[in-house]
Amino acid sequence: MAYIQFFDTTLRDGEQTPGVNFNQQEKIQIARQLETYGIDVIEAGFPIASDGDFHSVKEIASMIKTATVCGLARAVERDIDRAYEALSGAANAQVHVFLATSDVHMKHKLKMSRPEVLASIKHHVAHARKLFPIVQFSPEDATRTDPAFLVAAVQTAIDAGATVINIPDTVGFTNPTEFGALFRYLRENIPRFDEVIFSTHCHDDLGMSVANALAAIENGARRVEGTVNGIGERAGNTALEEVAVALHIRNDYYKTESGIILNQTKKTSDLISRLSGMPVPRNKAIIGGNAYAHESGIHQDGVLKEPTTYEIITPALVGVEKNALPLGKLSGRHAFVARMEELGYSMTDDERNDAFKRFKHLADVKKDVTEDDLHALILGQTSEKADDYELNHLQVQYVTGGIQGAIVRIHTEDGSVLEDAATGAGSIEAIYNTINRLMEQDIELTDYRIQAITAGHDAQAEVHVIVKDKKGATYHGIGIDNDVLTASAKSYLHASAKATEKKQTTSEEVPVK
Ligand code: KIV
Ligand code: ZN
Repeated sequence: MAYIQFFDTTLRDGEQTPGVNFNQQEKIQIARQLETYGIDVIEAGFPIASDGDFHSVKEIASMIKTATVCGLARAVERDIDRAYEALSGAANAQVHVFLATSDVHMKHKLKMSRPEVLASIKHHVAHARKLFPIVQFSPEDATRTDPAFLVAAVQTAIDAGATVINIPDTVGFTNPTEFGALFRYLRENIPRFDEVIFSTHCHDDLGMSVANALAAIENGARRVEGTVNGIGERAGNTALEEVAVALHIRNDYYKTESGIILNQTKKTSDLISRLSGMPVPRNKAIIGGNAYAHESGIHQDGVLKEPTTYEIITPALVGVEKNALPLGKLSGRHAFVARMEELGYSMTDDERNDAFKRFKHLADVKKDVTEDDLHALILGQTSEKADDYELNHLQVQYVTGGIQGAIVRIHTEDGSVLEDAATGAGSIEAIYNTINRLMEQDIELTDYRIQAITAGHDAQAEVHVIVKDKKGATYHGIGIDNDVLTASAKSYLHASAKATEKKQTTSEEVPVK
């Protein structure tokens, strides 16, 4: 059985989704969960892109022990050197160098001839190989590249020391028949095909990225790249959870194995969905809310008689299990800690004390504290702690049909206290105007979404906002609270803090594509 390596680029290509930007603490939380999920390689970022990216890659590299941590680099020496610097503390490191090889990219974007592109691949892959034991080379836009030139580019990279060749369908153009044939063509024309790892990286513009990735695997790819929930640039990337479960359920056909811990799927998906602010559609394969719901009477009857009549995947396989009994205000510290451990959270003493305090506060206002509430509690704890700004006080004055007012107090990381007041046509507008004044931000709210975490009138509110700065960059924020106005304020402060952080850490504008 061939072992398929899973390469996750949620923190790099996934973060190229408009409106998605994780702060450092969120990236660390995601990387930890990806490691628990059994991902082989975590693409932690693009170190040259900004100081923020550099520090996140460095921090993740120092913390991840079993997975390989990867940094992206253009075919530019200082990109590769910066990736090396960021990854120097990693237990296992690799670099991912890319250069476009399609005529359209070479002519219009790179303004380079074919011989110049081959020379650049040779030079930069060799340079990377002096620093890293594992060097992945990607001929960007491979599926629109002249196949004979693609072979020349790949051969040049292998001769220069590349150990992994990744074939990207950068614009989501190919289909499974063509992509499978491209891998066969490479296998037939690259004499050392079996000595390096061939990898697949697909985008979902035509809705075929998972099928394309599987076609590549059928034809010799031994690494699959993608993101959790398929988030990413434009229509997104290959959804890794779909590939993992397809390979497992159809093992009779694919005959492969992987290190993915399938019962971590739901938890991983929920985390990415919350932190990215991208809800999972109910009908999404594997992890959508309806994936295990049987509506028609005939189906229900069949499933009751024998689940396999209509269920090819059991919910338990991917960690969608019935909630255990909820906790409540009479639950003690012991029960709380035991449940958090069951849910897979390992906390320091300080984190546990803080989480228990938050749990007690929640249990005072909410009768049943469910597993969903507990996941949200930890997420709220992490995102609030991660920001340099913490909402300390919110006061709203509401008048029917009048002008609304808000007073907001924020505590900052350096110990200062910021307080101000403003008005607005509605309560939320008044709160957001006040936060803009306090943060001295000129940002615009472009999206606001609110959902209840559980059923019931005492449910916690989860608010997601997207804000846009003057340069057009967008930032996502999340806020969780049992009060909707507080959740709304927290989410806006979270997004606003990200906009401030980005302004302070961006060193170089690097267009990835
Ligand atoms: O889609 C793409 O081509 C990429 C490269 C950087 C591999 O993301
Ligand atoms: Zn991509």
